[in-house]
Amino acid sequence: MNTNVNRRDWLKRGVLTAAGVMAAPYLSYGAFPTQPINMDSKGNIPYTPFFKEYLPYTLEAPVELLAKLNANENPIGPSPMAVAAMQKYAAGGNRYAWKELYTLMDKIALEEGVKQEHIMMGPGSSDLLEKTAMVFFQNGGNIVSADPAYMSLIKVAEATGAIWKPVKLKDDWSHDLAGMEAAIDADTKLVYICNPNNPTGSITEHEALLDFCSRVAEKVPIFVDEAYLGFLGEGLKKSMVSLINEGKNVMIARTFSKIQGMAGLRVGYMVAQPETLGIIQKITRGGMGISLPSVHAAMASMDDAEFKNKTITLNKSCREYVYENLTRMGFDYVPSSTSFIIFPIEMEGKAFLEEMTAEGVGVRAFEIYGKNWCRVSMGTMDEMKLFTNALEKVLV
Ligand SMILES: Cc1ncc(COP(=O)(O)O)c(C=O)c1O
Repeated sequence: MNTNVNRRDWLKRGVLTAAGVMAAPYLSYGAFPTQPINMDSKGNIPYTPFFKEYLPYTLEAPVELLAKLNANENPIGPSPMAVAAMQKYAAGGNRYAWKELYTLMDKIALEEGVKQEHIMMGPGSSDLLEKTAMVFFQNGGNIVSADPAYMSLIKVAEATGAIWKPVKLKDDWSHDLAGMEAAIDADTKLVYICNPNNPTGSITEHEALLDFCSRVAEKVPIFVDEAYLGFLGEGLKKSMVSLINEGKNVMIARTFSKIQGMAGLRVGYMVAQPETLGIIQKITRGGMGISLPSVHAAMASMDDAEFKNKTITLNKSCREYVYENLTRMGFDYVPSSTSFIIFPIEMEGKAFLEEMTAEGVGVRAFEIYGKNWCRVSMGTMDEMKLFTNALEKVLV
């Protein structure tokens, strides 16, 4: 069998149906890229996970902030149970976490209602987004997503040789599913959907997305990034994971960084068809990047329902507080289903960030559809007060 020809045909069609997954010559997928990786003049991949974003300081010289509201981190995490597990298992750090990783995968599979073979672990979901991009786009092709979207997977896909086909969000900030479907062509290798979306915080209606994924995954694999789904406060009810047991070729990314408050401990996972994971795992390893204490912290965190509820309650009251204050100051905002809020500002992004940083408040600035926007993460209530005071000083 000439697997190269098969692979090229398969890539050209961009087709990976449930049956196709089984028949696809995935074992031949993942040799060497036929296109050079795009690099900048310093030989680095021109990568930033953010959308036209301004940073007021370089990462080499981060400033001390009184309120760090720029990375959608959980202000009260990790769960005390996760911290205790980290401490307990730190001394076991001379061993690889292979066995424990499987125990964690079993636990996750049970919670998700899938089999362990549907799970791939990563040190944060970024790792899985990037690996997916690197493997899927080795031979070019295009990726369809919303604009704006979380850019991690898309930027790595572009750096690997893909063309990004952005589709604007609708007026209500939900995904334009019809527009995205129309944008798919014979070279489309992946559709990326972030729901709820970052940086807008907006959500796309569950039934419509389920129908889209169910139908379109027959033609093209769909990657659904559900980093913020937990903040809906309904558990994982609105997830696309149910499609896995229907054999659909969807890939769902989750992270312990947000609601679980473990951004610095680095645990994430992906739920997908074993054949699709096989394509990615043929040339990459996911779980190797997770430390043994972090594996135990993740298991402990899963058992701490009280911590998750506390996070959801705090996040909700902070959102209400920010909405009220934005309205009082005359700002518009996009209603959020996440742990951050975005709103338009009448100041150039870099200057705005510099002034907010001078007040000790870290936020993000984006340029979306030709306008400047501020994205603020929900922190503690004290941090939100620092934020509204600083905003009033800088912009009102
Ligand atoms: C939508 C989305 N996906 C993925 C990630 C990556 O998170 P991590 O690598 O910490 O799991 C983030 C982080 O902000 C995000 O906003």
